[in-house]
Amino acid sequence: MFFNISAVEAGDEVIVQSFTFCASTHPVTYLGATPVLVDSEPDNWNIDPELLEEAIRERMAKTGRKPKAIVPVALYGMPYDIDRIKEIADRYGIPIVEDAVEGFGSRWKGQVVGTFGRYGVLSFNGNKMITTSGGGALVCPDAEAWQRIMWYATQAREAYPYYQHEAIGYNYRMSNICAGIGRGQMTVVNDHLRRHKEIQKMYEEAFRDVDGITVHGNPDERYDSNFWLCTILLDEKLRVKNEELAYAQAVSGAVGGAAGIVHGGGSLHTDCEPNANVEAMRVWLDQKGIEARPLWKPMHKQPVYKDVPAYANGVSEGLFKRGMCLPSGPCVTDGDVRYIVECIKDAIA
Ligand SMILES: Cc1ncc(COP(=O)(O)O)c(C=O)c1O
Repeated sequence: MFFNISAVEAGDEVIVQSFTFCASTHPVTYLGATPVLVDSEPDNWNIDPELLEEAIRERMAKTGRKPKAIVPVALYGMPYDIDRIKEIADRYGIPIVEDAVEGFGSRWKGQVVGTFGRYGVLSFNGNKMITTSGGGALVCPDAEAWQRIMWYATQAREAYPYYQHEAIGYNYRMSNICAGIGRGQMTVVNDHLRRHKEIQKMYEEAFRDVDGITVHGNPDERYDSNFWLCTILLDEKLRVKNEELAYAQAVSGAVGGAAGIVHGGGSLHTDCEPNANVEAMRVWLDQKGIEARPLWKPMHKQPVYKDVPAYANGVSEGLFKRGMCLPSGPCVTDGDVRYIVECIKDAIA
């Protein structure tokens, strides 16, 4: 991973938004560096600039070194407040690497996310706005950076007629078959973006008058989310049918997506889990053939990151406990949305 010319190495620290999928933090860990986890602001759900600055100051005071990078995450497609993040990052001279994976096509003040930082990361995994079946892309600042990254991504071979290696490279290139699929997908990207936004609008309208359910929308006109996933919050007081049965049974399903990996669960509860009404709603919808999922569990609440520095304000934990993701995507029809909404309303006790 390269941030301008200074690579992240073992012992370094990288500031990462805590409210995210583990793929934002794990690359830092793979390098032997430490992710420093920073909580979110309540309106856009993304990295809180005030906490970010507090984290930078405190880490510098404690370690005598600057964090190597700042990784904001466009959660569920929602842009981060890049103006404030950039002002802080520039003031401390720390590069931004945008995890724009979920925000492909989202815009902040008209500019697409992934193009503000030193680098921007995109994913073309099967569940993303467009797919190449797997893999992604890195938005680079210039040709020099691109050359250097692609050199490392293709096993870092020196310029000799034979195979001479003076640095450790990686086999991280995208296959031509995947790239071909991606080129085809680029012809439908605008249709996909439009459909995700239409679905969001339908959910917003459907739940406008439903007490206890809030749809997470663009906080103001600076934000233009792609609404990769539509998300709702259930008020703690909202009573959902069969709530008393929530978490009564261990989950025994696949945990490895299409690979069908199963992994024995531990206890029925952890010390940080969605509220009973959210779990009851998830189960209710599941029984109706609708897959709804909890929000990402913040990294600072994950046992695997219990020992890393965290700057928490309770926002992401509170959202995680109340939130859920609803189906969205080009294959979700208007009729599907009506059915989902109807089932959710039916679930209210
Ligand atoms: C926020 C975030 N970052 C990174 C990734 C990783 O993307 P990929 O699946 O292409 O490795 C994901 C995947 O879902 C994600 O949600």
